[in-house]
Amino acid sequence: MQRLNIQRILQRRGIGHVSKSTAGLCHFHATSKPPPLSFVFDIDGVLIRGPHVLPTAKRALKYLEGDNPFQKKIPYILLTNGGGIGEHERCDKLGAKLGFPIKPTQFCQAHTILKKFAPKYADKPVLVLGGERDVVKKVARSYGYQKALTTLDVLAWNPSVWPFHRLSEAERAVTESIDFSKTPIAAVFVYHDPRNWALDVQVTCDVLQSGGVIGGPYISSRGRTPPVELVFCNPDLIWRSDFDRPRIGQGAFKVAFQSVYRALTGSEYPHVQYGKPTQATYEFAEELLNLHLHDLYGAPNQFKPYMVGDNPESDIAGANAAKWSSLLVKTGVYEPANGPPAYKPTMIVEDVEEAVRWAVEQELAKTKSH
Ligand code: G3P
Ligand code: MG
Repeated sequence: MQRLNIQRILQRRGIGHVSKSTAGLCHFHATSKPPPLSFVFDIDGVLIRGPHVLPTAKRALKYLEGDNPFQKKIPYILLTNGGGIGEHERCDKLGAKLGFPIKPTQFCQAHTILKKFAPKYADKPVLVLGGERDVVKKVARSYGYQKALTTLDVLAWNPSVWPFHRLSEAERAVTESIDFSKTPIAAVFVYHDPRNWALDVQVTCDVLQSGGVIGGPYISSRGRTPPVELVFCNPDLIWRSDFDRPRIGQGAFKVAFQSVYRALTGSEYPHVQYGKPTQATYEFAEELLNLHLHDLYGAPNQFKPYMVGDNPESDIAGANAAKWSSLLVKTGVYEPANGPPAYKPTMIVEDVEEAVRWAVEQELAKTKSH
């Protein structure tokens, strides 16, 4: 039996850390053939709504774990535009809620892809936005961005940067003493939904207008490559939580930021966008799925996966562009009452359970017709 060094492959591709036990597991079963399909699941609006697990989610995963006509584990990964905490912690929490273990090697959140670019910024000061207090700073440092800093660190340095917010005790407790007049910021990464839009818009404008040195003279980046890179990880304008109407997301923060920046400078700041539906994120997810399949069956993935999502603009648009099959559920952003979805899925289904059963039936029918 051939032994594959999944550990080296995953680390080389910046995809998570593999524990000894998982590496041991990679001793794959060449005897058992993988089933002819796999899934990529969105999270918000498909498996959970805010703190609540959708009942169909547990049934769908039970079906994929082996209680299906193929009587095999049907591989799946989770692909979310959410984030804000580390992959391991998120997998533990999700696994406990869903009742099935979710491994970091089958999980991709909005900022996971940034692991790939850590070497470029390993020892450079960067600003990370979003999430609670310094949680995202710790996540960025765990990816290899050793000098990740937050807008709370900036406010601790000089409260007059934003006179309308006074640091709470809890916020001050997680700040570091940095002299930002001597700390040029090389990039701004928006990891997750900012908690203080006004502070984050102000400080990001300061960084970009002054070429990295907050409070420094303004520079014009017209006609040249802007010195500071600006990266957003989730383009979702809206998403579905447990409130009756969709909630605005990180994409709305981007709109707010760019309109302020344009009002100040006359044009929007060039930026990089990751997250669904971007091609980079779907390629990253397909790599992760291939490795997960290797993990489970020791075989490369031969079939384009079924994407199950609730948001036509992100889940379905991205899956269609990646030539995957796409299943749109009615338990999240998409509401049939609003008319046909902006991006046509392979199939519209009630929920995730109907999605997995429909896809399995399709593949069963194909195997029978061969
Ligand atoms: O903040 C998360 C939201 O934008 C959507 O998450 O899981 O539906 O991709 P998800
Ligand atoms: Mg969703």
